[in-house]
Amino acid sequence: MSTLITNIGELTTSTEAGVLHDAAVLVEDGRIAWVGGAVDAPRSRAAEFVDAGGRALIPGFVDSHSHLVFAGDRAAEFEARMAGQKYAAGGIRSTVAATRAASEDELRARLRGFVDELLAQGTTTVEIKSGYGLTVDDEERLVRLAAEVTSEVTFLGAHVVPSEYADRSDEYVGLVTGPMLDACAPHARWIDVFCETGAFSVEQSRRVLEAGIARGLSPRVHASQLGPGGGVKLAVELGAASIDHGTYLTDYDVAALAASDTVLTLLPGVEFSTRQPYPDARRLIDDGVTVALACDTNPGSSFTSSMPFCIAIAVRDMGMTPTEALWAATAGGARALRRDDIGIIAAGSRADLVLLDAPTHVHLAYRPGVPLVSRVWKDGIVRFGG
Ligand code: NIG
Ligand code: FE
Repeated sequence: MSTLITNIGELTTSTEAGVLHDAAVLVEDGRIAWVGGAVDAPRSRAAEFVDAGGRALIPGFVDSHSHLVFAGDRAAEFEARMAGQKYAAGGIRSTVAATRAASEDELRARLRGFVDELLAQGTTTVEIKSGYGLTVDDEERLVRLAAEVTSEVTFLGAHVVPSEYADRSDEYVGLVTGPMLDACAPHARWIDVFCETGAFSVEQSRRVLEAGIARGLSPRVHASQLGPGGGVKLAVELGAASIDHGTYLTDYDVAALAASDTVLTLLPGVEFSTRQPYPDARRLIDDGVTVALACDTNPGSSFTSSMPFCIAIAVRDMGMTPTEALWAATAGGARALRRDDIGIIAAGSRADLVLLDAPTHVHLAYRPGVPLVSRVWKDGIVRFGG
């Protein structure tokens, strides 16, 4: 099956080819077969034609950080925060209780609903973490459900120490790195840990990540969300694909990231929803750090699933240009997942594409809150829009 999308007013490739005008894209068997100017398009190779009407085409968003398998709601916690209360890691435990109490069918239905919600907003790849089960069986259930909807599954048994292990955190780390890892590793690609005061120490985080690596999982780390700490240094030392949050980075952290292959995944929805300061992405990029943007959809710290919303914040409040923010939300996310087949529009890449109801991708930040996603293709198949 081959489709030529033509009359594309603006095509953002998220590659070195940059932004093209009056462009066309040929999709064949789920992959991009050709990209270039509409006048040069290989029309004879196409069985079907789509007229983009002069609008903007971008790569599908790659949301490299989410916690989509959970039950319950923490609207009251958000409301209290907006009235001045501080965000704390301990809130995770209330979602753990609700998630343990939910049936597998309930969790699956909610998860699938989220995946559709993301697709409708242009996200074609999502990474999904466990972390609201925190027993062997509950964590196994969460990674198994996540694996039904994505290949980017992360085992996050070390999200927080559950109440039943209060004051026995090292014992809990033993459970995570032993039987829980045994049960979860077959369903996961990644191992993650929340390295933060109130969650896990640097030493405990190292135990978790090294155990995951020994089981063939690749590391990524939640760090420096609530204050500076040793998580970034650890992540870089272990060759993590990404450190996520980075709200409170030291100069040392920035230099270490710039000299590494570890992506810094910024999560502006968290700062928005916890009233923390936005990271200075401008400075980070200028210092040579590779920055990705993700939503961190979860019921506690960031309950948005909108990559366009995160892009708008990154442009308005974090100093990124619209093109940098779009790169970070597409190719940057792909890099944070060590993938080179998504997040770009180039010959050979997957045909994950978003047609915007806008003449340029700049509208993603210029028209915040407006649903601009008109049509979404994943692997060349229309999954949203007409
Ligand atoms: O990425 N930082 C840790 N985990 C989530 C928050 C989870 C929660 O509050 O439920 C995050 O922000
Ligand atoms: Fe998170």
